[in-house]
Amino acid sequence: KRLAVFVSGGGSNLKAIQAAFQAGAIRGDLAAVVSDRPGCGGWQFAESLQIPTIAFPGDDPANLPRTLDEVHGVDCVALAGFLKLIPVELVQHFRRAIINIHPGLLPAFGGKGLYGQRVHKAVVASGARFTGATVHFCDENYDTGPILSQSIVPVHPEDTPAQVAAKVLQTEHLLLPAAISALMDGRIAWRADGIPVLLEAR
Ligand code: GRF
Repeated sequence: KRLAVFVSGGGSNLKAIQAAFQAGAIRGDLAAVVSDRPGCGGWQFAESLQIPTIAFPGDDPANLPRTLDEVHGVDCVALAGFLKLIPVELVQHFRRAIINIHPGLLPAFGGKGLYGQRVHKAVVASGARFTGATVHFCDENYDTGPILSQSIVPVHPEDTPAQVAAKVLQTEHLLLPAAISALMDGRIAWRADGIPVLLEAR
């Protein structure tokens, strides 16, 4: 199977994904990197490895799904630190094959406007004693698709948002590659009510 990764920033999740491919922890190919911020860290990392890079939304956004499918042979999509809403055409074309990682425990601390550092600021402000990361399948809204897996991180009431962010980011680098591996291997079952179940690698 072939994967496209969407990035908007430094690309630490992309680097963790690439390392997992390298180590054989994800089987398949990293086919392309898509970004709304050409030149960002993730974009540069892709170029350094000669991985094709695609600007988002590009001159014809409705064409992106076909380009990914027919030009790059993409089967699955992972949003890794991607901050834009993906077009409904992409959601429809890659049904049950687009996952996103959110640095909070959805359904809490998510949705439009709650991304990146803003999530951790909201968590600290709330006095919550736990936070974490969530991998979910994407639908046409922000952060509302069915949850696939989560990590959990303790929050000390004196933690700064930056300290919380660092703890969460560390768990993202484990959670997302494991979810991608399952997606690429077809190790995801679906409950009758539409909740996905990650089947462990044997
Ligand atoms: C980070 O805030 C991460 O928690 C979230 O996206 C942001 C950038 O991630 N998922 P990355 O370093 O670009 O992967």
